[in-house]
Amino acid sequence: MSGADMRNHLRARRNPVSSRGRALPVSPLVARRHCGVRNDYSNGGVDRSDASDWRPPAFFRMKSSRPPSLINVAVIGAGAIGLDHLASFKQHPSARVVALAEVSPERGREAADRFNVPELVTDYRVLLGRDDIHVVSIALPNYLHAPVALAALKAGKHVMLDKPMATNARDAAKLVAEAKQRKRLLMVGQNIRFTPEVQTARKLVQDGVLGDVYHAKTAWVRRSGIPRIGSWFTQTKFAGGGCTYDIGVHALDRCLYLMGEFDAAAVSGQTYAQFGPRGRGDGSWGKSEIDPKRPFDVDDLSVALIKLKSGRTVLLEASWAAHQAEPDFNGTQLFGTEAGLVFPPLRLFRPGRHGYANELVTLDAPAVNPNRMVHFIDCLLGKAEPFVKPAESLAVQKILDAIYRSAKTGREVRLK
Ligand SMILES: NC(=O)c1ccc[n+]([C@@H]2O[C@H](COP(=O)([O-])OP(=O)(O)OC[C@H]3O[C@@H](n4cnc5c(N)ncnc54)[C@H](O)[C@@H]3O)[C@@H](O)[C@H]2O)c1
Repeated sequence: MSGADMRNHLRARRNPVSSRGRALPVSPLVARRHCGVRNDYSNGGVDRSDASDWRPPAFFRMKSSRPPSLINVAVIGAGAIGLDHLASFKQHPSARVVALAEVSPERGREAADRFNVPELVTDYRVLLGRDDIHVVSIALPNYLHAPVALAALKAGKHVMLDKPMATNARDAAKLVAEAKQRKRLLMVGQNIRFTPEVQTARKLVQDGVLGDVYHAKTAWVRRSGIPRIGSWFTQTKFAGGGCTYDIGVHALDRCLYLMGEFDAAAVSGQTYAQFGPRGRGDGSWGKSEIDPKRPFDVDDLSVALIKLKSGRTVLLEASWAAHQAEPDFNGTQLFGTEAGLVFPPLRLFRPGRHGYANELVTLDAPAVNPNRMVHFIDCLLGKAEPFVKPAESLAVQKILDAIYRSAKTGREVRLK
């Protein structure tokens, strides 16, 4: 158990309260048992040395003994999520976005003006050579994640990288190794993990309210939400994969985080492309160019059974397009020996004094800032511990890759 996990355990916890104002009691026995060694998956078999090697002041010691009063950030990519990166860094009083790289001059100019970014370039490599830039925040099409992040780490920058970490686990592993060797902060911005809902659910798990969590279902499924047919999102050579990489990554990451275990032993998956190739299921996300002649050669629905190293299981579903009741469902359900939970909205199920109870849980104040960019800067200032560890993102990438391999071969894929 990491120091932070231990501190979280020891911190006095406020009992969750149902929507009807009734406190949900936590059995001290269950809580104590859970705090013990038994069923402690908190390191998930994942080598977290990359996280514990992280020493916030190390970076600053390179140039001065005191942290600079302002941390200079360069954002690369000013598409749909790049704008969110720009807006989110603005929320930290010690962060300043000093430069933006964007290949589209129009999109770049519009974003630079809107967020008052003093320098705009089309070639991100210019920015990597600047000593006054401490952080590089990457909001690029998937195929550029690993090469640009690697170049930034090699240039000594701390890297905030949007998901998925890479388009294959081999490249993702290179990033983890580089960040570790250079002692730079590398974080994949799994923004959904930061939500108060997920943080509250994790606390319930850690406090033993669910007993032993042995199974989970997790999904992000949309009725008509292909980012945009004809953009880079729908081509393997630019995206690496379809809905599995795009939104399956969120559903999987938060589920494994809740279970406190990231390493899988075996994965069986199947992928489909029933809507995109027929020009159906289009959504409206993304700002990059559309070429109507470009092929749709990625998945628009996928399912997987993931067996974790501990023997526990996860059912993952991701879809950009499907005939279903809800236009968009993005949630997780945990099955424990004493109770179950599901969100959204966050609810607990368990036997109560008056029958089986299904209670709405009031969300706790988040322990980790829900703004991932603010959290990232706080980590650099030594005010927070990295919430999303590189080794966890690598483990998630391995599972996503295994889903594609399993779908291709028709066999279960065993992971080491
Ligand atoms: N965390 C989330 O919830 C979330 C949400 C959406 C997208 N994303 C991820 O963010 C990334 C970007 O997605 P998006 O929706 O912003 O895509 P987008 O197509 O809207 O934007 C990508 C931008 O990158 C620019 N670009 C491409 N090559 C470049 C280069 N070499 N240098 C500088 N700029 C370049 C494009 O011109 C475009 O403006 C993707 O990897 C996606 O998976 C994450």
